[in-house]
Amino acid sequence: MSVRGIGVDVVKVDRLVASLERFGERFEKRLFTPAEMDYCRRHKDPLPHLAARFAAKEAASKALGTGMAGGIAFKHIEVLQPGGQVPRLAFHHKALERFEAMGATQSHLSLTHDGGLAIATVVLEG
Ligand SMILES: CC(C)(COP(=O)(O)OP(=O)(O)OC[C@H]1O[C@@H](n2cnc3c(N)ncnc32)[C@H](O)[C@@H]1OP(=O)(O)O)[C@@H](O)C(=O)NCCC(=O)NCCS
Repeated sequence: MSVRGIGVDVVKVDRLVASLERFGERFEKRLFTPAEMDYCRRHKDPLPHLAARFAAKEAASKALGTGMAGGIAFKHIEVLQPGGQVPRLAFHHKALERFEAMGATQSHLSLTHDGGLAIATVVLEG
C-alpha cells in the first residue's frame, strides 16, 4: 500500500452559516446527503458538524487532485459515521471513478471543530 493522495481544508463555521442562510434549503441539499444531515441534526448545534463535513468534502477533492471540478459534486463525497464516532468517506459517481483511477482502495478522514473553525484531513491509500 502507498499514499495516493492527501488533502486538508479549513472552514469558518460563520461563513457556511451565512451561505446556508442566503441560499436556503436547495443549497443545503446540494452540499449534504440525507445521512449527513441526519447525523449533524442529532447534535445540539449541528453547524460545526456541517462545517466539518464541508471541509471533509473539500479536503477529499484535493486528495483526489481535482478540486470540486470535472463533474465532481459535493454529494459525490459523503461522510459516514457507521455505528460510532470514527468518520469515514464514501465516494460516489465521478468521485468514485477518480478514486479508482488513482489506484486508491482505502481512505482515511480526520475532523476537528473548535473556536469557530472546522478542519478536515484526508489520506488516500492503495
Ligand atoms: C480545490 C478547492 C477545493 C480549494 O478550496 P479553496 O477553499 O478555494 O482553497 P483552499 O485555501 O482551501 O486551498 C487552496 C490550496 O489548494 C490547493 N489546490 C488547488 N487546487 C487543487 C487541486 N485540484 N487538488 C489539490 N490541491 C489543490 C492549492 O495548493 C491551493 O493553494 P495555493 O493557491 O496557495 O497553491 C476549490 O478549488 C474548489 O473546488 N472549491 C469548491 C468551491 C465551490 O464550489 N463552492 C461553492 C459551494 S460554497
